[in-house]
Amino acid sequence: MKIKNICCIGAGYVGGPTMAVIAQKNPEIKVTVVDIDENRINSWNSEDLTKLPIFEPGLDKVIKESRGRNLFFSNEIKKNIEESEMIFISVNTPTKTYGEGKGMASDLTFVELSARKIAEVAKSDKIVVEKSTLPVKTAQAIKNILDETSSGLKFEVLSNPEFLAEGTAMRDLEVPDRVLIGGEQTDSGHDAINALVKIYSAWVPQKNIITTNLWSSELSKLTANAFLAQRISSINSLSELCEHTGADVDEVALAIGMDSRIGKKFLKSSVGFGGSCFQKDILNLVYISKSLGLEMVADYWHQVILLNNHQRERFAKNILKTLYNTVSGKKIAFLGWSFKKDTNDTRESAAIYVADMLLSEFANLDVYDPKVTENQIYKDLKYLKSRSEKENKDLLKVQNDPYKTCKDAHAIAILTEWDEFIELDWKKIYKDMKKPAFVFDGRNLLNKDELDKIGFKYRGIGKL
Ligand code: NAD
Ligand code: UGA
Repeated sequence: MKIKNICCIGAGYVGGPTMAVIAQKNPEIKVTVVDIDENRINSWNSEDLTKLPIFEPGLDKVIKESRGRNLFFSNEIKKNIEESEMIFISVNTPTKTYGEGKGMASDLTFVELSARKIAEVAKSDKIVVEKSTLPVKTAQAIKNILDETSSGLKFEVLSNPEFLAEGTAMRDLEVPDRVLIGGEQTDSGHDAINALVKIYSAWVPQKNIITTNLWSSELSKLTANAFLAQRISSINSLSELCEHTGADVDEVALAIGMDSRIGKKFLKSSVGFGGSCFQKDILNLVYISKSLGLEMVADYWHQVILLNNHQRERFAKNILKTLYNTVSGKKIAFLGWSFKKDTNDTRESAAIYVADMLLSEFANLDVYDPKVTENQIYKDLKYLKSRSEKENKDLLKVQNDPYKTCKDAHAIAILTEWDEFIELDWKKIYKDMKKPAFVFDGRNLLNKDELDKIGFKYRGIGKL
């Protein structure tokens, strides 16, 4: 099948950047990203490229190059599905908050709605591509819906999980370690796989494009995230041991990471991993394992999450304990709110949970993040339902200047590793703080010796 038109359902952190790069590299294919969220589509179409709905370094340049040429953002879902030969499903698949599998399983409502919409409006055969991260065997459900609810058309379902990380998404898309495409092992399945391989071949070397069966592809995505998160929980577990023994977790990470069998990536100890996917995908893996009666497998992976929760809690408790067991009425400055640097995404950010614990102790928090809006910060806290919106607003203020944030604070907590925090005038900050002036560095971002020399009481993760 020759692909002339692609439609992507879901204009989020994955749909937007992924399709922007596909369009950039395949100027002869028309790529349209559709979404039910009108505001999001309007933002994607914004003339002012600083107003794109997501902040991702380098994204504006690619959008500028392709938008209006062969890349389009639209609310016309039906029309674009109908006109396209290949349809990507890139909708959100959050953890279920209700019913069977609550708090564990992935909520596939949006995926099912997308499949039903495709079946409803399609007038010709289609290749449907799972771009969202999905439980293994979802392709079967999608295929059933398509086959049972359309009027005799032929659908091929492919799994093409996305491995980009936020903050480095453009580079990850430009030079991916691998592109993974799973499909049915039939003649028509192979044809569909080849059609997608051709699109990626426009810029990805053949050796980096892997093709597998559907289930290997679906399961590999969950596995990749589980392995990455597991490394962080492993090093974070050691950070606690370091704090009790005098070992330094960054030195340990360096020493073990130089063993080429271990490797140095994803060994940075922190206040805990966040982001929309690690927790969600591991919980999903745990749920699938439990559903199959594989309790040992489920328990093994669940521990990665429990350790991460423990790390966030430990960080908050350490602040409380160090500030003489009370933070009530004390000002604590939060530097950073996003779940990592170079993104405005706050989903599952450790900052939210640390803030919540300190607010429950009646601390006064002032928060500064270079990219996260005030509205988003209050929304994140509201979602936890720990206290009323008014109480959150009374206790937590959002600032747009880091110096004002830290002025008169009893302690500073660094929650995100934004580069600009390294460059701050730490002498000035020290002068304006209450003494003793504590810094709790949840990212081991700053230089302990320099801060101690200024007079700060510096506490990193996994070091004395
Ligand atoms: P997102 O929430 O940013 O975007 C999803 C979009 O889908 C939203 O704009 C929503 O309005 C839209 N949507 C939902 N239902 C729809 C429907 N029926 N019709 C049209 N639009 C609909 O989510 P995301 O971060 O882009 O993640 C999407 C998927 O990709 C998830 O499965 C996630 O696990 C996976 N993933 C995410 C990342 C990441 O870095 N964020 C990386 C790899 C994989
Ligand atoms: C992660 C994966 O890296 C991507 O491959 C995957 O596609 C994506 O999830 C997804 O499926 O959504 P992302 O969550 O965007 O990407 O960012 P990461 O760089 O993986 O960071 C996740 C969290 O772990 C962040 O909070 C980060 O600060 C933390 N982290 C990361 C550490 O604490 N230590 C590390 O060494 C690395």
